[in-house]
Amino acid sequence: MQRTHNASELNTESVGQKVKLCGWINTRRDHGGLIFIDLRDRSGLIQIVFSPEVDEESFHLAEKVRSEYVIAVSGTVAARTPATINPNLSTGDIEVFIDQMEVLSPAKTPPFYIEDGVEADENLRLKHRYLDLRRPEMLKNMMLRHKVVKAIRDFLDGHGFMEIETPLLTRSTPEGARDYLVPSRVHPGEFYALPQSPQIFKQILMVAGMEKYFQIARCFRDEDLRADRQPEFTQLDMEMSFIEEEDVFALVEKMMAVLFKVGMDCDIETDFIRLSYGDAMQRFGSDKPDLRFGLEIEDLTELVKDVDFKVFSAAIEAGGAVRAINVKNGASFTRREIDELGKIAVDNGAKGMAWIIVAEDELRSPITKFFTDNQMESILGRLKAEKGDLLLFCADQPAIVARVLGTVRLELARKMELIDESLLKFAWIVDFPLFEYDDDEQRYVAVHHMFTAPRAEDAGLLDSDPALVKARAYDLILNGTEIGGGSIRIHQQELQKKIFSLLAMTPEIYNEKFGYMLEAFAYGTPPHGGIAFGIDRLLMIMAGCSSIRDVIAFPKTQSAVCPMTQAPAAVNAKQLRELSLKIRE
Ligand code: AMO
Ligand code: AMP
Repeated sequence: MQRTHNASELNTESVGQKVKLCGWINTRRDHGGLIFIDLRDRSGLIQIVFSPEVDEESFHLAEKVRSEYVIAVSGTVAARTPATINPNLSTGDIEVFIDQMEVLSPAKTPPFYIEDGVEADENLRLKHRYLDLRRPEMLKNMMLRHKVVKAIRDFLDGHGFMEIETPLLTRSTPEGARDYLVPSRVHPGEFYALPQSPQIFKQILMVAGMEKYFQIARCFRDEDLRADRQPEFTQLDMEMSFIEEEDVFALVEKMMAVLFKVGMDCDIETDFIRLSYGDAMQRFGSDKPDLRFGLEIEDLTELVKDVDFKVFSAAIEAGGAVRAINVKNGASFTRREIDELGKIAVDNGAKGMAWIIVAEDELRSPITKFFTDNQMESILGRLKAEKGDLLLFCADQPAIVARVLGTVRLELARKMELIDESLLKFAWIVDFPLFEYDDDEQRYVAVHHMFTAPRAEDAGLLDSDPALVKARAYDLILNGTEIGGGSIRIHQQELQKKIFSLLAMTPEIYNEKFGYMLEAFAYGTPPHGGIAFGIDRLLMIMAGCSSIRDVIAFPKTQSAVCPMTQAPAAVNAKQLRELSLKIRE
């Protein structure tokens, strides 16, 4: 039986038409003399009606079918009586009287309801993902993904970009996570690595003269998983020649406006604000601050460096900082609530979190006694404290203070419901340091990656004080999530070698790992730069989900397992032998 329509294509104009429909039984209601079935296909639902007066045979068949059976039906579209119109359904003012039905496939009872807002355990949903994906909200997410990716392709094509595929079987790419390795059969003992990103290939495509490249690129990173991290995920990866930061910003802002129109039908303001990494860390305690609410962090280090309170002065003497958050209307918090915040602080590495309640006629606090009236007044003044406020303080090394107050800030926003979920707050984070010192490895590591160019004006610092060199790197953040990151690259062989050396690589090591890239740079390399976006994260925000798993058709669990296929799995002895591998007991 060939179908003539999708369910949602029918409307009151179709009344009287003979139609053939195919789909799944969403629900079935037996009213004795009449049987109603909501038939579901990808486009939506439609009510079909079985009556012995119309067709005896299909009526009796309809008595036996159950939810999720796949059926083909033919019948005549009719208008519903006013009393039976369902305003919640796009096809709610019509129904189809069936004169013929064929069961194409029976179905077992699903382990969870095929409907929105299921409470089913996520492992069960992933084990039967084909059922989970039948739920309208999941179908909507898949459709959103398709539309946004298509809009990306159309936009970039319209701006002169070429889509080029790069290998999945490659060498290790240095993005900082562990690699997934693939053993080679024909070269015993040797391995391909799955790419953590197409970084080196896209730069080499610039050497090759492609000028404007993009790819919807699958990336693989063996790292600890979270709600916004998967072992394999998809990037929109881009690279351009003869450009600078401003070109990237302008193009990306224009593209985001198109994508958010397509994905969410909203008009975003371009000209995203820019925040330096230093300001972001100081004011929000994070390099991906959520800017949908205030609760900014105030630095008090200069103000309190000479006070008697040892917790503050000792921290400052040791090179630390003292910072505070003024929680407006926080004076109503109970001691227990304040202690809970203190516990979050300690769990994030704080030694404690001092507090002051600005009550109606007094200050309540364990620490006011350590300050003179003048000192107290200037602290309150700096924090613009008013009656009803709660002030929270942290003293420690700047990185710890930032992490602690940044985490407390987010917790406060959640607890006090300060986040307006309808907002989209984009920002570029710029002026990252090029390097940071890794205490464990006892060497500098690249903050973005080792191909990022230093700012030209900082070239002299590379020898004298690498920690002060700023990078030509940028991240795009949205509502507290890093959705993209990139940089202007090094395109000079000598400078790239120097950076490798500063990262404690000997020429033997960097030539062995990246010699092909250095060699490419010797053959005429355009200045270039680019960026990559986490498409899953972007879609998660557009779809209003709290995990990227909900916008990926077949994601892995937090422990990197696929409950449906049971990957990863053991392989047989023959496969191992062919690969010259032996599993250690
Ligand atoms: P970066 O490592 O910042 O940069 O990655 C770019 C973006 O990819 C997303 N992302 C992830 N999404 C889901 N799961 C993960 N495990 C995951 N890891 C990263 C983030 C991130 O902003 N080659 C550079 C880009 C460049 O310099 O052009 C790179 O990969 O949204
Ligand atoms: P103490 O004098 O050690 O009892 O500390 C007095 C107050 O300061 C308590 O509320 C502690 O939680 C708090 N406190 C301790 N260490 C720190 C710190 N490093 N930063 C901020 N507050 C702290």
